[in-house]
Amino acid sequence: MGDMRTELSFPNLAEIETELLAVLAADTQTSKATDAKSEPVLLTSSEAVKAAAAAVLASGEYKAGANETLLLHAPAGLKAKRLLLVGLGNQAKATVNSVRNAAGTAVRFTKPRGIRDLTFALPEAELLQLEPCTRAAIEGAFVGDYDPDTYRSDRKDQSVKSFTLAAAEKADKTALEAAFAEGVIVGESQNLTRSLVNEPGNKLTPTVLGHRAARMAEEVGLGWSVFSTDKLHDLKMGAFWSVSQGSAEPPALIVLRYQPEGVKEGPVLGLVGKGITFDTGGISIKPSENMEKMKYDMAGGAAMIGAMRAIALLKPKVRVIGIVCAAENMPDGKAYKPGDVVTAMSGKTIDVINTDAEGRLVLADGLTYAKSLGATHLIDAATLTGACVVALGYANSGVFSNDEESYGKFEAALGVSGEKFWRLPLGEEYSEQIKSDIGDIKNTGGRYGGASTAAEFLHVFAEDTPWIHLDIAGMAWVEDSKPYIAKGPSGVAVRSILEWVRSYEPLV
Ligand code: BES
Ligand code: MN
Ligand code: ZN
Repeated sequence: MGDMRTELSFPNLAEIETELLAVLAADTQTSKATDAKSEPVLLTSSEAVKAAAAAVLASGEYKAGANETLLLHAPAGLKAKRLLLVGLGNQAKATVNSVRNAAGTAVRFTKPRGIRDLTFALPEAELLQLEPCTRAAIEGAFVGDYDPDTYRSDRKDQSVKSFTLAAAEKADKTALEAAFAEGVIVGESQNLTRSLVNEPGNKLTPTVLGHRAARMAEEVGLGWSVFSTDKLHDLKMGAFWSVSQGSAEPPALIVLRYQPEGVKEGPVLGLVGKGITFDTGGISIKPSENMEKMKYDMAGGAAMIGAMRAIALLKPKVRVIGIVCAAENMPDGKAYKPGDVVTAMSGKTIDVINTDAEGRLVLADGLTYAKSLGATHLIDAATLTGACVVALGYANSGVFSNDEESYGKFEAALGVSGEKFWRLPLGEEYSEQIKSDIGDIKNTGGRYGGASTAAEFLHVFAEDTPWIHLDIAGMAWVEDSKPYIAKGPSGVAVRSILEWVRSYEPLV
């Protein structure tokens, strides 16, 4: 992880001595073609900054589109060496998430230019509340600072050394400091998830993932256990174990416990993550093209580890258990085979049609185990199906739920996290597709509706417990770099899971 120093300050923008001052700009153009052209506006009350940018704004060269940047050297009247304009796009549509991305854009603009310190001015705009913008800007800065090139032998540490967030002099300091501290925790936790997802399969085996989770737990004061094969046998986790049996690497059942002081009743939230450290498909082996990407098949598990870190540091008043079912899915003389029937921890028998549908098997036992530990509400995250990617592309993750209240809370959480999830259906029609001739259910439901049949498979194990299933197969890896995030692991779902958890805090 980069070691970016962050700071919150309340300066006069004209007086800041910094290598680079980033200020937000918005497009004020309305859609009516008849309207006279209007210039982009700067979201600052600083007359000095406005004056420094006046000529370029009047020129029409810069449109303030979302994440569009423009750099001015030696801006007149400012002590900053450079002034960077970062666009938020249309002013009426700009959100807190636009500010999050703009902060990432400013950092990613700065990094490759060898500029090591920057100041990012928070927007002064009626529609953008300062507290959520503060948190989001810090998160965005961490997201932008992360690059996945950790194994380059010529890697230059291009991490930004110092990121200063500048709020207006008159702002409420106490409130913003709290929001700022939160943003640091959330941004670092998301980057922890990304660094785990980025690790190749040979470096990050299930055992190593267990070590990394335990190290994190020690650092932030979570309870933890990491079990392996013997425990899977003791618990009769036939589904999870069958996936792991073809690998020389033993599985890891990672359990993280967050117990806030004095909280003895109310919900217990169970967070369950798919932790396949490499998915070859097993005997139903995948084609070699793109198989290397299957190192990220533990992104759901890594999201739970990142979320548990943030939970431990933000201390919501609700009990949480995090479970990661980590295994490697390999073809081997000892591997499970199509046609095998395995008995899950719940007692249900599973007819294995395809060994590449392994995620649902490990999660089946993870969900049952979470309930056995007392979870009253469940959420799982998994890079579960290619079908979800076909349905939603790289724009949304899938979300499924058997409970409107839980789902409502998740939907509200998205408003804070800025992440995009699209609800997909469960239903008896899909359950029909996974009926087995020999046992209780089979692990694939045929060609169509694959994201929903996979979700219905998990539903068999969640049963009536309020449950949310996140299929992040498409979103866990950024396919093309964006101005605010590098190509590579995204850390998706960490922020949304965290906010969902916080929504279960009692309201007093
Ligand atoms: N890990 C894959 C799903 C996946 C696909 C994740 C693409 C990320 C990108 C999962 O284990 C898998 O192989 N699913 C199969 C299920 C099928 C055999 C029913 C799939 O989606 O093809
Ligand atoms: Mn698979
Ligand atoms: Zn998989």
